[in-house]
Amino acid sequence: MPALTVQSQVDEVVNKYNNLSLNKEANGPTTIEVQLKQSYGFKPGYGDAFTEALPQATKNRFEKYGIDISKGYPRKAQEFPYFLDDAYKATARQPGAESFVERGTLADPSKKKLFAKAKEVRNLTKYIGTELVGVQLADLDETELNELGLLISERVVVFLRNQELSPQKQLEIGSYLGHEVEKHPVAAHVPLPGVEGPTGITTIWGRYNRRARGAASQGFKRKGGKIFHTDLDHIEGLSYGHLHLDAIPNGGSGDTVWTSGYGAYDKLSPDFQKFLDGKTAVHKSAHTYYDRDDPLSGPKFVEREFPLVVTHPVTGWKSLFVNRSHTVRIPELEPEESKLVLEYLYSVLEENLDIQVRFTWADPSQDRSLGASAIWDNRVANHYAVADYDDVEDERHGTRVTSLGVPASFDPNSKSQREALGLSN
Ligand SMILES: [Fe+2]
Repeated sequence: MPALTVQSQVDEVVNKYNNLSLNKEANGPTTIEVQLKQSYGFKPGYGDAFTEALPQATKNRFEKYGIDISKGYPRKAQEFPYFLDDAYKATARQPGAESFVERGTLADPSKKKLFAKAKEVRNLTKYIGTELVGVQLADLDETELNELGLLISERVVVFLRNQELSPQKQLEIGSYLGHEVEKHPVAAHVPLPGVEGPTGITTIWGRYNRRARGAASQGFKRKGGKIFHTDLDHIEGLSYGHLHLDAIPNGGSGDTVWTSGYGAYDKLSPDFQKFLDGKTAVHKSAHTYYDRDDPLSGPKFVEREFPLVVTHPVTGWKSLFVNRSHTVRIPELEPEESKLVLEYLYSVLEENLDIQVRFTWADPSQDRSLGASAIWDNRVANHYAVADYDDVEDERHGTRVTSLGVPASFDPNSKSQREALGLSN
């Protein structure tokens, strides 16, 4: 037996799949021990502890609401799902979800109870984004939260500044707006007393993300980029996303931009709308996993197919449901056609500033000892975090809760936003 050939083959496999931690024994060239690593190199539990770098405003909030970070921060699950089948199970729609009624559908369309609490209801642009001035999220009752759900679905994103909001209350609001909240099996999260696994309160912290992945702070040349995306869109039924920044970045940096899928659909010609209606698109996960039966084929994404044009379950309006980061193909089309059509749809979402809103967290009206909240509808919005902040100097930290609600399906009899509102084209 040509042992040298086997040895070189083993060497070749070890080199090729260095992301799998292949170890070979010196005298055992015919066996390979495979140890799977989380593909981004994340460590379980408090293994990536970053507590020292936590902004003071975040520490204050955690201390005030009894979040124990003495063991470290942030926390990850003790066990990651390494295999695709486990990841599919973890992100599948849970039993009982079908009976959930979207809160927005229960709301008084005039939203008078919620609006009565506001000093001002300020539309930040004509077609997308409303700021509720003078409203404390923590004070809203169920009727007012129903009205908030409707407002978010109509306006795509709603902002509330100067919030006194605990992570626990943020979780409670997200749990009310959906049938449950998404608990990502890999994402870093805020620990809660008495809760072992992921809590559903995710850490949004650029400084941690970049260091934990071994990446240096982004250089200026890489701070623009086309990074519009929808969070977790490979998960069926994803609805409201709520980012609460408890450390507001310095110097007007770290803005977030949202764009409207309703508006993007209304930009298209009737013939092109007809062509897209009823088609589907495949969305991939941000994280990767291994095929249990073929781990050497390398990391793979979870993929799910959704309608490309969705009918929103609360507003009944049609929306374009694609985004540059996670949509991979339109399966009904040839690959080149799919690429071309998707590229065009991304450009409609990304280049029409009249259907976008840019929110400056560090506005002068923001009390920096308090937080600011943005709550948006992932079934309609793409968003983009402007990375013009310095990871160390411009402290930016937030907590995110994502609700799971009624998945947006396609109803051929539904109308676009402008059709439904009787607006001209
Ligand atoms: Fe995001």
